[in-house]
Formats: sequence, C-alpha cells, structure tokens
Amino acid sequence: MKKLLTLETTCDETAAAIVTDDLKVLSSVVASQDELHQRFHGVVPEIAARAHVERILPVIDEALRKANTSLQELDAIAVANTPGLAGSLLVGLMAAKSLCLALGKPLIAINHLHAHIYACKLASGVDVFPCVGLIASGGHSHLYRCNAPSDFVYLGGTIDDAAGEAFDKVASMLGLPYPGGPSVSKAAVNGNCNAYAFPRSFLKDDSRLDFSFSGLKTAVRYAITGSATATFERPELSDRQIADLAASFEEAVVDCLVGKALLAARVQQLSTLCVGGGVAANRRLRERLGQEAKAVGVDLHIAPLELCTDNAVMGAIAVERFAAGKTESLDLDFMPGLVRV
Ligand code: KG4
Ligand code: ZN
Repeated sequence: MKKLLTLETTCDETAAAIVTDDLKVLSSVVASQDELHQRFHGVVPEIAARAHVERILPVIDEALRKANTSLQELDAIAVANTPGLAGSLLVGLMAAKSLCLALGKPLIAINHLHAHIYACKLASGVDVFPCVGLIASGGHSHLYRCNAPSDFVYLGGTIDDAAGEAFDKVASMLGLPYPGGPSVSKAAVNGNCNAYAFPRSFLKDDSRLDFSFSGLKTAVRYAITGSATATFERPELSDRQIADLAASFEEAVVDCLVGKALLAARVQQLSTLCVGGGVAANRRLRERLGQEAKAVGVDLHIAPLELCTDNAVMGAIAVERFAAGKTESLDLDFMPGLVRV
C-alpha cells in the first residue's frame, strides 16, 4: 500500500490529507480562514497567503499524526498548483517542493478543478468517467467534458463572476455573514423564490454553455435600493424582504446552473453528471439537480457536503497520476489562471 500526502492551498483553506493508492483516506485536516476574511465579505488574497504560511506546517503535522504516519513513510507528495490565488498557490507548492527535496520523494501536480470533480468518484466509489463536470465555487463556475480524471475539455463557464462570488456579495448586500453561500441559503428557506424577477443570463440560449452572474448581482442591488442609484447605503430590510430576496436570487442561480449542466449532458450525449465546488453544497441546487437529472435519465453524482468546499481529500486524484508515472520536476510552477483543459 502506497501513501500520499496531498496539499490544498489554492484559496483560503489550508488543507492536508493522507490517502492511499487504493483511495482510502487515512486523515484529512482543513484549517479554514473564514474568520480572517469575514469583515471584508470576501477573500483578501494577501491575508490568505500569509495565513497559509502560518498554518501549512501545523496542518501537515496534524494530518500525519491523525494517520499515524511519518514523513519517511510517504511515497509521494501532491499539491494543487492550478488554478487559484497566486500567493496562496505559492505557499502549498513551496511546502510540497521543500518536502520532496528534503525527503527525496516524488512530486505530483493536482489541478484543483479536476480534483473537485474527482470528489464525486471518491464518494460514490464508481467510475464516473466520461461525464459532464460542473464546478461551481467561489472562484469558478465551469462546465467540462470529463473524459478521464486528467482529460477535461472546457465546454463553457462564467464570463464574469463565479456563482459563489455572487452568493458572497449578495450576502453582504443583505447584511448576512460571510461566507455568503450558507447564510443566503439559510435565509432563503423561508422566502418566496418568485417574489423578485431576477435575470437568468443565457438560459434560453441553447447555443452556449456559459454563465454570467454579474448582472444578477446588480439586479439584487437595484431591488434593495429601489432604483439604479449610485448609493451603497443599505436601507433597513425586513426579515421577509431578506428571505424573499435571498430565495429569488438563489433560484436564479440554481436555474442557470441546472439548466446549463443538463444542456451540456444533452449536447455532449453524456448520461453522467458530476457536480463539485463550494456552491454544490447548496441545498436548493442539490434538490433541483436531483429532481431534474432524474427526469431526463441523467445519472447524478454530487460531492458530499464535506468534499464540496476546499479540502485535500479530493487531491486523491494524484493517485491516478502517480500510478501513471506522471511525476514533476522540482521546477514545477504554479498557474493562477484558469487552464481551460
Ligand atoms: O470550492 P470553494 O470552497 O472555494 C473555491 O474554490 O472558490 O467554494 C467557496 C464558495 C464560497 O463562495 C461560498 O459562499 C460558496 O462556495 N458556498 C455556497 C454554500 N456553501 C459554500 N454557496 C451556496 N450555498 C451553499 N450552501
Ligand atoms: Zn475550490
């Protein structure tokens, strides 16, 4: 049995896991930075990078301790090196390279987006490939044709903000706490999703598989302020208004994500859909995907809640590269931008 240490520092979670080559999870540690970014209503890249520096070694130590494993017993070290925030990626990559150099162990690269989809395979235990992959997170909202764990073809995605970014900013506008996804979702439970007619970009256009959530954010703002004014003052909102705004916004995002994911399955003639990323934790999205995938005969795999938001367990995708002999040299670089394949 081979053991891999997987590291995740692409955004604001510092995470490490020990996984085996037969996909057993021996330990998983996630140090969230939510409390550091809360007062800014979003991730501040420089704060995230500095917090990773402070946390990465204790997180690795904790993962080793929980797995009852020593550094010497590891067979390889894997790290997410794309896409993500530059300063954040750098910390994980340098930690991984340093360990590889000191211990003489092989280095494996993880594509963070591929890993989000791999979480579905890990959880279901079945081979989900080929499938349509929908990744909806704070940084990404993209659709892929996933032929194999490392063979993704970009089908479309957001042309501006990611779905999670929209949740975070709408939460801020409604005076709800960060991270916005869970708080908007909670407020939406008691709301009327038809109270406000918010836009669903590109939804009726069957010729494209893109998303746009920036106009939706603006529409929510105008609904709150009552007009297209430049003021950022937030008028006093009643609990009912907050619930209705949250529910109407959430439904608009869900309509787009569900509609385009199932369109991608139809266009690509694929009958499996895998969904990952922080927004995949959304209660209403999970409910609607479940109903609508079933109605059209699409086999749906959504990452379990603990594997939706960033974690290092999904880095077990590195086992596939390790088995194929795909290791990296120590001059491996990080790539913050989205690599479309
Ligand atoms: O995948 P993730 O942890 O980080 C990135 O790779 O971006 O996703 C974080 C995002 C945040 O924007 C957060 O608000 C959103 O996922 N999120 C949710 C929910 N839980 C987290 N969005 C909607 N509903 C949720 N329940
Ligand atoms: Zn992520």
